[in-house]
Amino acid sequence: MLRLAHTLEAQLRAAMERSFPEAAAHARQAGAPLDPQLVPASKPEFGDFQANGALPLAKPLGRKPRDIATAIVEQLAADPTFTALAEAPQIAGPGFINVTIRPERLAAEVAARLGDPRLGVPTAAEEAGDDPLPVIVDFSSPNIAKEMHVGHLRSTIIGDSLARVLEFRGHPVLRLNHVGDWGTQFGMLITHLKQVAPEALDTADAVDLGDLVAFYRQAKQRFDDDPAFQAAAREEVVRLQGGDPLSLKAWHLLCDQSRREFQKIYDRLAIRLSERGESFYNPFLGAVVDDLRAAGLLVVDDGAGCVFLEGVSGKDGAPLPLIVQKSDGGFNYATTDLAAIRYRLAPPPSGDGARRLIYVTDAGQSAHFAGVFQVARRAGWIGEGVRVEHVPFGLVQGDDGKKLKTRAGDTVRLRDLLDEAVERAEADLRRRLAEEGRPEEECFIQHVATTVGLAAVKYADLSTNRITNYQFSFDRMLALSGNTAPYLLYALVRIAGIARRGAAQGEGLGDGLAAGPLAFTEPQEWALARELLKFDAVIAEVEEELLPNRLCSYLFELSQVFNRFYDQVPVLRAEELARGSRLALCRLCADTLGLGLGLLGIESLERM
Ligand code: ARG
Repeated sequence: MLRLAHTLEAQLRAAMERSFPEAAAHARQAGAPLDPQLVPASKPEFGDFQANGALPLAKPLGRKPRDIATAIVEQLAADPTFTALAEAPQIAGPGFINVTIRPERLAAEVAARLGDPRLGVPTAAEEAGDDPLPVIVDFSSPNIAKEMHVGHLRSTIIGDSLARVLEFRGHPVLRLNHVGDWGTQFGMLITHLKQVAPEALDTADAVDLGDLVAFYRQAKQRFDDDPAFQAAAREEVVRLQGGDPLSLKAWHLLCDQSRREFQKIYDRLAIRLSERGESFYNPFLGAVVDDLRAAGLLVVDDGAGCVFLEGVSGKDGAPLPLIVQKSDGGFNYATTDLAAIRYRLAPPPSGDGARRLIYVTDAGQSAHFAGVFQVARRAGWIGEGVRVEHVPFGLVQGDDGKKLKTRAGDTVRLRDLLDEAVERAEADLRRRLAEEGRPEEECFIQHVATTVGLAAVKYADLSTNRITNYQFSFDRMLALSGNTAPYLLYALVRIAGIARRGAAQGEGLGDGLAAGPLAFTEPQEWALARELLKFDAVIAEVEEELLPNRLCSYLFELSQVFNRFYDQVPVLRAEELARGSRLALCRLCADTLGLGLGLLGIESLERM
C-alpha cells in the first residue's frame, strides 16, 4: 500500500496547504514543507492510516489541534481524488485524522497484486528519486585455516538475505566474501608446518582441514610463547608477501583446502558469494598509508603509523588511534579494510564504484568499523550520497546462555550443526507421519527434512533482532508453532492443500479471477487483505534498516492472520462469488509467503 500511502500523503499535504497558506509558505521557505505525519493506523478500529500533522501546527497557528484537523478534513472533503480513495476521515483524540481506504479501492489493490510476480513491490528504477545503486554486501568472510564458526554462519545467513532483498529491488549487488587469507597467521602456520608436517606445504590435501585447524592452534601457541618462533614466522610472512614461490605455493594449497570446505557449507545453504579475500588488497596497502599521510591524517606514534580518531577516547581520556602500519612496517586488519573501502568506492576501472557498502559481522567489530569508516571519511574517500554501514549482530549462545559449545566443550562445527537440524527435522517428520498413518516415499521424507532443517536454522538466525544475542535451540527452531520456519511453511502447505482440493473440484486457486470483481464481506477477509497489502512497505523497511527480522515478523503475522481467516471462514464450501474472492486471498497469501521466504533464502514446500 506504499503507493496509496504516498498519494494520500500528497493529498493531505495539499489540504494542509490550502487550509493554512501562510504557514505553508513559511514552511516551504524554510525548506521543510508541511508534514502530514502519515503513519499506518495503530489499530484496525482506527482505519488504515493516521495523520498526526495537525498537532505540531497548534503552537505556530495559536489554534486548537482539533480545529486545525477539522479545517484539513474540510479541505480533503473538497478533493475528489481523495474522496474517491478514502472514506470521510474521522478526527480522534487531540486531533489525529484517521483515514480508512474505500473497500473497493482495497479490493482493487488486492486484484492488482494477483497477476504480479513482484506483488506490488516496485524496482528502484521504477521509483522516482530512488535509483538503483551498486551495493556491496561484505558477509560470511571466514578465515583460512581456521574453522568457520557460528558467528560466520550468522553473517552468511543475514548477509545473504539482505543481498536478496536488495537484488529484488533491482540494485546491482556484489556479494563479497572478505576471507581472512593474508597476514601473520600464514607466517605462523607455514613455519610450524615446515617442522611438523612439511608434506602439507607442497601436496594438496596431505592433511585434513581439521588437522590444519589444530596445527594453526599449536602455531599460535608457539608464536605467543617462543620469541625465536615468532621471528621465524615474521620472516615467513615477509617471504610470502614478497612473492617467494615456495611460500606462495604453500599458501595457495592452504587457501584452496579451506575454500573447498567453506564451499560445502555455502552449497548446502544455497548461498552465492564471490571470494575476494584480504590478499586482494595487498598491492594497495602502501598507497593507503601514503594517502593518509598526504591528507595530513597520519601520525607516527611509538614507531607505528596511526590516525587518531575524533570523538573516541580511551580510559585516560586521550584520543584512541587506529593503527594502520605497525612499527615493523607491516599492515593489519584495519589497513586492509581501509584499502577495501577505498577500492570499493573508487570508480571503475580502478575500483567497484559502489554507492552503498554493507558489512555484516558480529557486534564485537563495531569499534573497528566505526574507526575505519571515520578515517575513510576524513580521507575523502566517501563521496556524497554514499552509504557505508556496519550491520552488527549479537552472539549465538547455547541453551545455557553461554557461548555455543559441544558437550565436550569444543566449538561446534557448522557441518554437524546443519546435520543435526536435518536429522531432528527428519525424526519429527517420521513421528508425525506415523501418527497420521501417512505413507510417504523416502525421497519425499528426505526432501522435506532437508528443507525444514535448513529453513529452521536460517529462520532462527533471521527472526531475532540481530543486534541481540540469540539462544540457539533446535527444539525451539523446529517447533511447528510460534515464530518458526516450520510454522510459516505449514501455512503455505495448508494453502497448497486448498489448491489441490479446489483443483479436484474444478476450482483454480484464484487463477483467472484477477479480472473478476473481488468482494469481501467478512472482517477476517478484510484483515487478511490489509495484511497482504503491507508487503511492499515491509520490503522498503528492510532495505532501509537492514533488519531481516522485520520481514520475519511480518510473515509470521501474515500466517497467523491467514490461519484465523481459514479457521473461521469457509473457502471451498463458500457460495460462488465469495469462494472466488477467498481463493484469490489464499493465492495471494501463498505468493507472499513464498516470495518473502525466498528473500530470506528459504525454500518453500507444497506438502510436509
Ligand atoms: N574475517 C573476519 C572475521 O572472521 C571478518 C571480516 C569481515 N569483513 C571485513 N571487511 N572486515 O572476523
